[in-house]
Amino acid sequence: MSDYGLRSTLVLPELIVYGTGSIDELGEHAKKFGNRGVLIYGGKSLKKSGNYAKIIKILKKSGSKHIEISGISHDPDDETINTITERVLKMNPDFIIGVGGGSVIDTAKAASIIATNGGEVKDYWAGKIFLKPSIPYIAVPTTSGTGAEVTKNAVISGKGQFFKKSIRSEYMIPNIALIDPSLTLSAPQEVTAATGLDALIQNLEAYTSKSAGPITDTLAYKGIEISGKYLCRAVENPDDLQAREGLSLSSLYGGITLMNAGLGLAHALSHPLGIRFGIPHGKACALTMAKVMEYNYSARKEKYAQVGILLAGIKDGVQAFNNLVDSLGISIKLSDYGVKEEDIPTIVADSKGGSRRFNPIDHSDEVVAKIVRELL
Ligand SMILES: [Fe+2]
Repeated sequence: MSDYGLRSTLVLPELIVYGTGSIDELGEHAKKFGNRGVLIYGGKSLKKSGNYAKIIKILKKSGSKHIEISGISHDPDDETINTITERVLKMNPDFIIGVGGGSVIDTAKAASIIATNGGEVKDYWAGKIFLKPSIPYIAVPTTSGTGAEVTKNAVISGKGQFFKKSIRSEYMIPNIALIDPSLTLSAPQEVTAATGLDALIQNLEAYTSKSAGPITDTLAYKGIEISGKYLCRAVENPDDLQAREGLSLSSLYGGITLMNAGLGLAHALSHPLGIRFGIPHGKACALTMAKVMEYNYSARKEKYAQVGILLAGIKDGVQAFNNLVDSLGISIKLSDYGVKEEDIPTIVADSKGGSRRFNPIDHSDEVVAKIVRELL
C-alpha cells in the first residue's frame, strides 16, 4: 500500500470562514442561530487592539442582542469553567461567540457544551459522555497557533493543581470558525513566537504521527511550509499582514490536522513543562521537538527531510528546526526554565496519555526521561 492508501479522516466545523476582513460577516452568521448571544472574551488586549469596539459595532448592526462575559485568563481551571457555565445557563442564549486566544476559545467551547449536557468539568474528566450538541458556538481567534477554533477538545487545568486535562467530544467542534488574520495584528512578539511555534509543531507532529494519512498530510505539509516562510517575519514585524495571514492559515491547518491525525511526544511533554514551569504552550513544545525528532528519525526519514527543505532548504529536519528556534532567540536548555534532574520523574509521569500514543515510535518512560535529561 502506498502512502495514498492510508486511512485518513477529516472532521470539521459546519463552516470555516477564513480571510482578512471576514470579521465583518460575524453578525450575519450569528443571526442564523437567533438574536440572543453571549460574547465571551479575555479583556484588556481585545479592547486595546480596537477589535472589541469593531465586534460590538458589527453585532449591533446585525440587530442581535448580546450579554458579555469577560476576564477569561490563561489556562482556565475547572472552577472557572463551572462558574461561566452557570452564568451562560442563566442567560439562556441562542448562540455563544468566543473571541480570543486558545484559552478563551476553549473556555467558551467548554461552557457551551456543559450548559446543554449538565454536570461539571470533573464529571467529564471522570468519563461522563456528552450526549447532546452544544449551544451553537462561533469561535473567533485573535492569535494564530492553537487551532482551537476547529478542534473538538478544551484544555482545562485543575484548580490549584499541576495538571491540565482535556474534555472532548465531536459535539464540541465549534459550529462556525471565523478566522480573520487582521485580528492577530495586535498580538505581541512573544505571543506571536510561541503561538506560531505551536501551529508549526502541531502540523509537524500531525504530519509524522502514527495516524497521519493523505488528507491530513496535504494540509500539514502546507502548514509547515507557510510557518517556515512567515513565522520569523511576523515576529520581527507584527504589522506585516501578509505574514499574519500565513500564520493564521498554518494555525487553521494545524488545528484540523491535530484533530484528525493526533500529535506526538513533544506535545505530551509540553503539558507538564508548561504548567509546572510557566512556559507558554508553543514554546514548551519547541523545547523538546528537535530531540523528539532525533529519537523518531529512523521511522520518518523522508518526512523529516521534507520538513528540513520546507523550513530551511536543507534535508536535515532537526537542524532546520533548531535553526528556526535559535533565530527566535529561544534557548532549548530546560535548566534555563528551572527544570532540575529531580523533576524528571514527575514530568515523565505527567506526559502520559493523550499525544504520546500518536508518536511515530513507541517509547518507554525511560526513553522519555533520557530525552528530558539530555535537554537539561
Ligand atoms: Fe499545541
